[in-house]
Amino acid sequence: MNILILGGGGREHALAWAVLQNPKCDKLIVAPGNAGIAKIAECADLDILDGGVVGQFCEENAIDFIIVGPEAPLAAGVADDLRNAGFLVFGPSKDAARLEASKGFTKEICDAAGAPTAGYARFTEAGPAKDYIRAQGAPIVVKADGLAAGKGVIVAMDDATALAAIDDMFGGEFGAAGAEVVIEEFMEGEEASFFVLCDGENALPIGTAQDHKRAYDGDEGPNTGGMGAYSPAPVLSDAIQTQVMDQIVYPTLREMAKRGTPYEGVLYVGLMIKDGAARLVEYNCRFGDPECQVLMLRLGAQAFDLMHAAAEKRLDKARVNWADDHAMTVVLAADGYPGSYEKGTEIKGLDALPATSFEVCFHAGTTADKGRVLANGGRVLNVTARGATLQEARDRAYAMAGAVDWPEGFYRRDIGWRILG
Ligand code: AMP
Ligand code: GLY
Repeated sequence: MNILILGGGGREHALAWAVLQNPKCDKLIVAPGNAGIAKIAECADLDILDGGVVGQFCEENAIDFIIVGPEAPLAAGVADDLRNAGFLVFGPSKDAARLEASKGFTKEICDAAGAPTAGYARFTEAGPAKDYIRAQGAPIVVKADGLAAGKGVIVAMDDATALAAIDDMFGGEFGAAGAEVVIEEFMEGEEASFFVLCDGENALPIGTAQDHKRAYDGDEGPNTGGMGAYSPAPVLSDAIQTQVMDQIVYPTLREMAKRGTPYEGVLYVGLMIKDGAARLVEYNCRFGDPECQVLMLRLGAQAFDLMHAAAEKRLDKARVNWADDHAMTVVLAADGYPGSYEKGTEIKGLDALPATSFEVCFHAGTTADKGRVLANGGRVLNVTARGATLQEARDRAYAMAGAVDWPEGFYRRDIGWRILG
């Protein structure tokens, strides 16, 4: 099959790596890709937010199957455009992607589905929102309704922070995403992510992970897109996974189907676990980045078969071949990230890194320049490894991190601390 992956981050490098292991893949193109992806697949410079452009490219290149990586093209309706043009696509429709693109919509679905989540209220004006905050009191969570590149959530430990967040959101700090605000009860507990493939009706769990959102060691510093992850997440026991499927995932899928907007693709279920039970924090309509990197390393070639089965609506017959292993990824980021950082610094030592079924250095924000690899974003590399134990995976990942010669980058030294200390 000829396969096209949309996106150009570490997530898409990991997806490309897994797809290429599968003998069913005859040709792989990634748009736009990055310097690491360019070493294993053809890259195409396409406007991936324009379904017409992508559709035409698929036509010209006899593409059989398209995997959409990031949320932006999904929220823009690119999967719909491609399906309407007759292509087989992995990724939800624009209407189904509202589970990520509108936090208020997700709450509405949770109510209708009876799915456990934080109590909440929705507002379109600052006055009533502030009254609600004063009445409820901190800690409290203020969320811009729309997509805000992961920055639209303020976990306020005091009233003043929550009230200031209201001013920022209605003041236009997050553009249209902040025109509506969801205010939520603060949930205590341990966070973990659960990844489920969906075909509109059936659902298949494909792994658990835990991310590290803060920039620096000890969970200090500003929030980021994620500085490292590992899989599995032991806090998501089999019993909790069953509870999540029964109380959250299946009721959500039934409600989406009932509304005529069935959910197809990967559902990223963000959970808060306390006292042996999970509540929903958020849905994302795509793989997590960097969680995808650890999932792909663990799943390998079968990841393609599973995504293909989801797209062809035959997940009821699909099975995951689990290995009893652990994976970890450590993110190398540009100094200054998630604030301002320099682009164009040279990264050396990459060719000497191991590239096996146990160890891969996935590229995120990189670009190639006359045989050199240059940093081209905030999160730049994801050194990813697996092993029989999480400690083994960690040792391998950090050995790679230490071998990268990039003075202008940094990484956390404590990924996996919850389990390994
Ligand atoms: P979200 O984009 O909705 O996942 O929110 C980003 C992060 O904010 C989450 O990963 C949690 O760490 C935190 N968060 C969101 N909602 C809540 C909540 N109701 N209670 C506690 N923490 C939350
Ligand atoms: N790593 C968090 C996310 O992809 O949303």
